[in-house]
Amino acid sequence: MASRRYFYATFCCLILLGSWCASEEELDNVLDGKSSRSANFIEIHHHFLRSPEILLVKTVRDSLQCAQHCLVIKKCRSFNFGLEADNNGKHLCQLLPWNKFQHSGRYEPSSAFHHYRIASVCENDPCQYGSKCIAEHRIMGYECQCPPQQIGDICQFKVPLWLKVNTREVCFGARNDSFGSFRMQFSGKITSMRLVHLSGNVTCYSTQPNDYSYWGCKRNDRLRTIVTDSRNSRVFPSQTNLPRFYQLHGIKSYSEKLTFYNLTIPLKVGIHQEFRVWYIEDFRNDSESDNDGKTCADVYALYV
Ligand SMILES: *[C@@H]1O[C@H](CO)[C@@H](O)[C@H](O)[C@H]1NC(C)=O
Ligand SMILES: *[C@@H]1O[C@H](CO)[C@@H](O)[C@H](O)[C@H]1NC(C)=O
Ligand SMILES: *[C@@H]1O[C@H](CO)[C@@H](O)[C@H](O)[C@H]1NC(C)=O
Ligand SMILES: *[C@@H]1O[C@H](CO)[C@@H](O)[C@H](O)[C@H]1NC(C)=O
Repeated sequence: MASRRYFYATFCCLILLGSWCASEEELDNVLDGKSSRSANFIEIHHHFLRSPEILLVKTVRDSLQCAQHCLVIKKCRSFNFGLEADNNGKHLCQLLPWNKFQHSGRYEPSSAFHHYRIASVCENDPCQYGSKCIAEHRIMGYECQCPPQQIGDICQFKVPLWLKVNTREVCFGARNDSFGSFRMQFSGKITSMRLVHLSGNVTCYSTQPNDYSYWGCKRNDRLRTIVTDSRNSRVFPSQTNLPRFYQLHGIKSYSEKLTFYNLTIPLKVGIHQEFRVWYIEDFRNDSESDNDGKTCADVYALYV
């Protein structure tokens, strides 16, 4: 059994080893003189990572000094520490750009080395369904590389799947550029979007307050609510020409759900990408002065 323990190393060029930094200037990936970096290292007794690339080999007093060298080099993720000291009492220190997650096949028991790696948020395998965890050491965050049929920050969702994308209710008015905006919670590809009515109503004839609707003007099948991206390019409905209203099979201006089916080419969306919900006349500055009201909705997207 490999034993493990943690130790904490910190490195600041200016304070600790200013001259050492300068001597490593040939390495363009060395932290500059003002930077500092700290990390937890995990020690794995009697193991060795046969890395395809070695950043640097040093001789060091002890493993802590090797860890400090590792911290100076931005690409360093782990190191092999030679157990046997030379005549000067120094040990071999191999700085590596990989860790065992990237090269598990090259990770092996060894009587001559201890292996140390920067403790990674990937240690606990946050990514689901066998997706690959990519540790981002600078912020100690991570990113999961999802296989094709999965999305989500930890690849927790299998597509196709409807997902709610807004965090707060999305409210749009009928005049004065009062679009509602929301940001996607997940990156991926979508083909459909659905607005689900929560409260409120809109009209393009405020003189007739009883003829309310959620997505149109009067109670009929003419729809006047669209979805655009943050540059106000229309995304839904996807038809090329948009007159003052449009119709969708089976949907009325007062239906609880307004579903935009099916983009033939899925739309790629990024996490936190903004979309907007507009009332058409407000979008076009088209006879909006007699408009009134506000509709609030949840937004769902069909990820594929
Ligand atoms: C819309 O703007 C007009 C003038 O620009 C203003 O008089 C009116 O009160 C605004 N209406 C709403 C609902 O904010
Ligand atoms: C429409 O909205 C107004 C407020 O904007 C509200 O007073 C009215 O009751 C609503 N009508 C219906 C039928 O929901
Ligand atoms: C959209 O696609 C879904 C799933 O492929 C299908 O069930 C539905 O009938 C399609 N809707 C329209 C309006 O084409
Ligand atoms: C509508 O008017 C606003 C200013 O109130 C302007 O920023 C916007 O570009 C106009 N939109 C169109 C489609 O003309």
